[in-house]
Amino acid sequence: MKEKLLETAKSVLLKNWTGTFTKPAPNLYPHQWNWDAGFIALGYAHFDWPKAKQELRSLFKGQWSNGMLPQIVFGKEKDAHYFPGPDFWKAHEAYAHPKNAVTSGISMPPVHGFILWRIFQIASKNDLKDSRAFLEEMFPKVKKLHEYFYQYRDPKNEGLVYIRHPWEGGTDNSPIWDTVLRGINPAELEIPSYKRQDLQNPEAAKHRPTDLDYDRYVYLVDLFRRHQYDDDAIYKECPFLIQDPLFNATLVWSNECLIKIGQEIGAEVAEIIHWNELSIYSFNEKLWDEDRGIYNAYDLRNEQLIPVFTNSGLMPLIGEVPTQEQAEEILLKLESPHFGGKDDQYFLCPTYSLQSENIDFQKYWRGPIWINMNWLLYQGLLRYDMEDMAAKVKADTLQLIEEYGFYEYFDPRKSSTNNLACGTNQFSWTAALCIDLLMEA
Ligand code: GLC
Repeated sequence: MKEKLLETAKSVLLKNWTGTFTKPAPNLYPHQWNWDAGFIALGYAHFDWPKAKQELRSLFKGQWSNGMLPQIVFGKEKDAHYFPGPDFWKAHEAYAHPKNAVTSGISMPPVHGFILWRIFQIASKNDLKDSRAFLEEMFPKVKKLHEYFYQYRDPKNEGLVYIRHPWEGGTDNSPIWDTVLRGINPAELEIPSYKRQDLQNPEAAKHRPTDLDYDRYVYLVDLFRRHQYDDDAIYKECPFLIQDPLFNATLVWSNECLIKIGQEIGAEVAEIIHWNELSIYSFNEKLWDEDRGIYNAYDLRNEQLIPVFTNSGLMPLIGEVPTQEQAEEILLKLESPHFGGKDDQYFLCPTYSLQSENIDFQKYWRGPIWINMNWLLYQGLLRYDMEDMAAKVKADTLQLIEEYGFYEYFDPRKSSTNNLACGTNQFSWTAALCIDLLMEA
């Protein structure tokens, strides 16, 4: 059983391999995406080390001179109709855009530090010299990315970085963004004309973000390009400036792993230690919700917390941000009717509280299960020795994949008569993280 699943997972990655990078999915996502590439590299590290390295090298070819690592590095496929494409982003007008790559103009959750450390653990068993050389090659690039975040996305020097677009958070239509997006009223704004490409598959189209959401996404991109991606100018004008717990949790865990990498290769890590201490401190001071026992996001433009119950608020576990006591509160949340971890009606872990009035079990980041979020949650639970819950998250994850296939996301309701598989099939990070879960020591 395990062997068959493993072989199919590998074949998904190999089918999506383009020769230089791996597409997140064959049709819907024809280019290279930032955090997808990180998870994909981890999958390859278990069976094809050269491809794992190439995946990350290709992504970092798109890194900007100021350190920003773009959300999309565009591939060469001429027939790849993807909106927004390079013509819309106009990212090449930015002073920091690289000469040898074509990219979008925002970033994504910085998973690369912890991915790098983890793939080193795997690959060094076979080839210590080569895997250490790869650490030496990548360490300065990943450090530069973190430096960009602390320098340009942390205007109050509190160690919490903001995102300026829902796509930057990776959780496109998460309910976390709702209040801030509602403040952007497309009817009163000039929105450049555009044509969506994500609605072509009528089945998947039902679950995608609305046109109104899309207008707002486009408005923000237009604002960035008007400022030619100047971070200071964007900060002054952008209505969307959010400190997101998922994003900052990946940064903290990656900081921690960069420190380990620096020690492994003999590089200076004092600055990273400083960043990380400040981040963890502010996380707990500012984003921890004592009453509800979960981390919140913070709206930096309107200076207020965003108390919305999503599983992003559980993710600081990955970077050991919570104390043991806080982590136990988080575990209680996971077991509670919010996430359904104690009863047998739901697979873990829905992205949005099951008690939210407007949960939508099939709509993208507003309820469905995503495999990368489950993988992160699993790693976080293990850090606190919460073995039973970790085992449940892992078992549910593998069961969904085995029963339904390598889909993009899944309806969590066991009682549903619908097919629980949602979105696009042959999704690369579902396959890659399945490989990691099956192969872990
Ligand atoms: C969607 C997801 C995002 C992912 C991208 C490519 O936009 O929301 O997280 O990186 O697809 O798979």
